[in-house]
Amino acid sequence: MAQPRGQWSGRLGFILAAAGSAVGLGNLWKFPYITYENQGGAFVLVYIAAIALVGLPIMFAEIILGRRSQLSPVGAFRKLAAGRPGGSGWCAVGYLGVAAGFIILSYYSVVAGWTLRYTWMALSGELGRLAAEPGALDTFFGGYVADGGAQLLGNGLFMATTVAAVFFGVKSGIERVATFLMPILMVILLSLAVYAATTPGFGAAISFLFRPNFGELTSHGLLEAVGHAFFTLSLGMGAIVTYGSYMGKETSIPVSGLAIAALDTIIAILACIVMFSIIFTFDLDVTKSAGILFTTLPAVFFQLSGGGLLAASFYILVAFAALTSTISLLEVVSSFSIDELGWSRHRATLTMGAAIFLFGILNALSLGANDALTSLNVFGDTHLGVFNNLDYLASNWLLPVGGLLIAIFTGWILSPRDTLAEMETGHPGSRSWFPGWLALIRFVSPLAVGAIIFSIIFLGMEYQ
Ligand code: PHE
Repeated sequence: MAQPRGQWSGRLGFILAAAGSAVGLGNLWKFPYITYENQGGAFVLVYIAAIALVGLPIMFAEIILGRRSQLSPVGAFRKLAAGRPGGSGWCAVGYLGVAAGFIILSYYSVVAGWTLRYTWMALSGELGRLAAEPGALDTFFGGYVADGGAQLLGNGLFMATTVAAVFFGVKSGIERVATFLMPILMVILLSLAVYAATTPGFGAAISFLFRPNFGELTSHGLLEAVGHAFFTLSLGMGAIVTYGSYMGKETSIPVSGLAIAALDTIIAILACIVMFSIIFTFDLDVTKSAGILFTTLPAVFFQLSGGGLLAASFYILVAFAALTSTISLLEVVSSFSIDELGWSRHRATLTMGAAIFLFGILNALSLGANDALTSLNVFGDTHLGVFNNLDYLASNWLLPVGGLLIAIFTGWILSPRDTLAEMETGHPGSRSWFPGWLALIRFVSPLAVGAIIFSIIFLGMEYQ
């Protein structure tokens, strides 16, 4: 039975919901880590260029596909490709996106679950006790991720919260949570940044992030910047297509797209300022591990005054950021079931939420709890376990391939007359810069993404 389609209450609702999707573990954990690994400076500049030249044009493209079709990705491609080269074959891009949403959510919510446990431990004082004992945080973290019951509990709680938000629909669920959480997130992050500015490592952090050092930039770093631009902006799997489909005709695509990308970038940079100030203040050594957020930082929080409060605010910040991202991942899968299978929203969110949680058990138990799951090896020794294999599959393949196809479809298959018409809806002055966007979506974005895919296949590079 056809159901009335949800809509955002206006431009701000869309911007906050989409920025909520974009801002997540990618900003608060992954970006600081890869920036550190790539020596800051030049890498940050290249990342900003990747956001502007690849991410932003594809962001506009996804919003166009969603708003023009008023459908979630599979239906959007079916409707817009009708009578054009490739026809309904383009639906495959939509299915790829739904699969990516399902897979990413199944492991993303496991890490998100950790933030609940750490928030709780910061408040109860347990984290402070662990931090006081050398090595105890590491031991705890290792034991915690290998504890199957604890992992299922964290993942289950986070999935249930996500389902509860998506259950209530576009305006009263997704938008309401985002408009409540995003401002709080900004306040917490800004307060942490102000605090960071008072630490002795602040100056070193700023010069690390912004000093130009092109000599230290590698081709690997270049690709990593482009790849991360996709993940962090939630591009390549139809999340923004889906959110764009709930957008009103009066809302400007370029203004909201720019606002989302700017918020995402500012938050990623602020997160870096906070973390690097702390890292440089205490002269810490950062190693490649999801543990930086859960082992290195808590140890330091408790050396600063007000450590418990600082740690609790920090983990609440990460939990909120992750929640608005998991909501968008579940919405892609749910809106597919609603639009394509004709399910009610309630049935879609409960069934798909349960299915993703059940599938996610494989991830939750692959961090030490179950030997076979922990040692699964599909993509080589550096990605052991179901969790790491799925992250590798999604980040290195599904998102870049999806993004490439979305750029080709919007740039070459849709007629520029149609894309211009959609861009002008809600933003009448678009004609002057439209050719610039068209050149980016036709040439620059596909070439940059094509270079990533080529380098993964032929040069064996990875960018996560
Ligand atoms: N953008 C989110 C982050 O940075 C992750 C995400 C990817 C969310 C794809 C939705 C879709 O954490």
